[in-house]
Amino acid sequence: MGSHSLSNPQRRLLRAMQESDAQTTWSVASILEACGWSDQAQAAGAALGLVEAGFADVDEKSTIKWTLGPEGKAALENGLLEARLWTWLSNAKEEESYMRDLQSSGIVEKHETGIGVGLLKGLGVEIESGCLIIPTDSMAEEIIQERYDFLSNIVEGPLLDYFKGRKGLLQSSESTSRTWMITEAGSNAESLDEVDEVVELTPEMLQGEEWREMTFKSFDQTLESTTPTTGKPHPMQSLIERVRSVFLEMGFSEIDGNYVQSAGWNMDALFIPQDHPAREMQDTFYLDEPASLEIDEKNLKQWKDIHQHGGETGSTGWGGKFSDEIARKGLLRTHTTVNTIKHLADAPDEPCRVFAVGRVFRKESIDRTHLPEFHQIEGIIMEPGANLPMLVTTLKTFYAKMGYPEVRVRPAYFPYTEPSLEVEVKWRGKWLELGGAGIFRPEVSEPLGVKWPVCAWGMGLERLAMLVLGLDDIRQLYISDLEWLQNQPVL
Ligand code: PHE
Repeated sequence: MGSHSLSNPQRRLLRAMQESDAQTTWSVASILEACGWSDQAQAAGAALGLVEAGFADVDEKSTIKWTLGPEGKAALENGLLEARLWTWLSNAKEEESYMRDLQSSGIVEKHETGIGVGLLKGLGVEIESGCLIIPTDSMAEEIIQERYDFLSNIVEGPLLDYFKGRKGLLQSSESTSRTWMITEAGSNAESLDEVDEVVELTPEMLQGEEWREMTFKSFDQTLESTTPTTGKPHPMQSLIERVRSVFLEMGFSEIDGNYVQSAGWNMDALFIPQDHPAREMQDTFYLDEPASLEIDEKNLKQWKDIHQHGGETGSTGWGGKFSDEIARKGLLRTHTTVNTIKHLADAPDEPCRVFAVGRVFRKESIDRTHLPEFHQIEGIIMEPGANLPMLVTTLKTFYAKMGYPEVRVRPAYFPYTEPSLEVEVKWRGKWLELGGAGIFRPEVSEPLGVKWPVCAWGMGLERLAMLVLGLDDIRQLYISDLEWLQNQPVL
């Protein structure tokens, strides 16, 4: 590596080293002084760069520094254990100098008695039949004083070794100090003038031509860096936005509706028989509040006619008795088709292409592929000449734009469409069912005054999310696993 690739700080440091004796050892402090810097990291960084370039050698010394540990600090404040014991023993009468008295002295806890006795023995105390005896020529006070002196000024020596063996009094920390020396290559390096380096290329610079002549600071793109984590929409929200933009792009307008609906609009308007199993309590969340909703008499009468005998449509209806009370029941919508039907009821003679993305509710037990609350993508095309091929093409176009070109339809059954289709998408070699579609039956569209065929569909959005995000378990979408969320692609 030549000197031309050195950064400015490295050049400055190398020049300082060249101007001194080649035998000089450089510390961070001397580098700071010679280069006129104040940032230690800059000094160490420049020196490291010179080492990497072969212009300097580094010498690393690690030193262990001993300081007072928590118990050492406490000992300086409240006295060393042996000092407190010594005071107690020196003041005790002979008949109170027994091991048992040591325990009741309050100086040592029961479990420390052994340590306490050991410390006293270390100070020369002898034990005879359980009695602690101070020898006449005791040096204990001097020894204790030396220990205090040591603790207030920790230095190398036998006492350091002694205290290392006592728990908690001292603690150590390791520090590495580095010094640097210029190498021969460093001494011979030339052209060390500092250059003007541009760290950041700004849009303003790009306006002109000068940047072509500038020197840019080089950087190492192989160095590790942290991945920035920033806020981003939940993957489901992103998917909803994508679905929206695809439908908007295809010329559809968005419609909306409430979660709370009457059974009448959610089901009867769609010619779902009042004794249909899907209406049962175990499939639908019926509400206590509002337990029932107002419905226009006109609509109730229409549904009654249609359900009981087919109204004017030529159908025979379902027969039996139609209950207004059942129709008024409040519930959480079980499909977004209720948005569609209400839209048609409001504007039966305006041809339209509309869609809705919304939450629906069903009493499903939660498992790998089911949730009681999920989203549907719903849509209709109502216009002269709307037909089945148009419906299939529209769905295929939608899924192709979402990234799933392989779509197929199969015959299916819904009470409100004829013909009815099931839509499937190919994923990892398998056909996956995403939802239903069909053309509204006359029993649904005619009473509303709709004159043209209505192509309709409703698809589960979480199923699509599973495809897009490659999930095996639908619950993953809603457990707020932050790590997973952070790693999701921006859709
Ligand atoms: N509403 C149906 C469902 O909930 C889907 C559907 C919508 C089917 C429109 C046909 C027409 O699955």
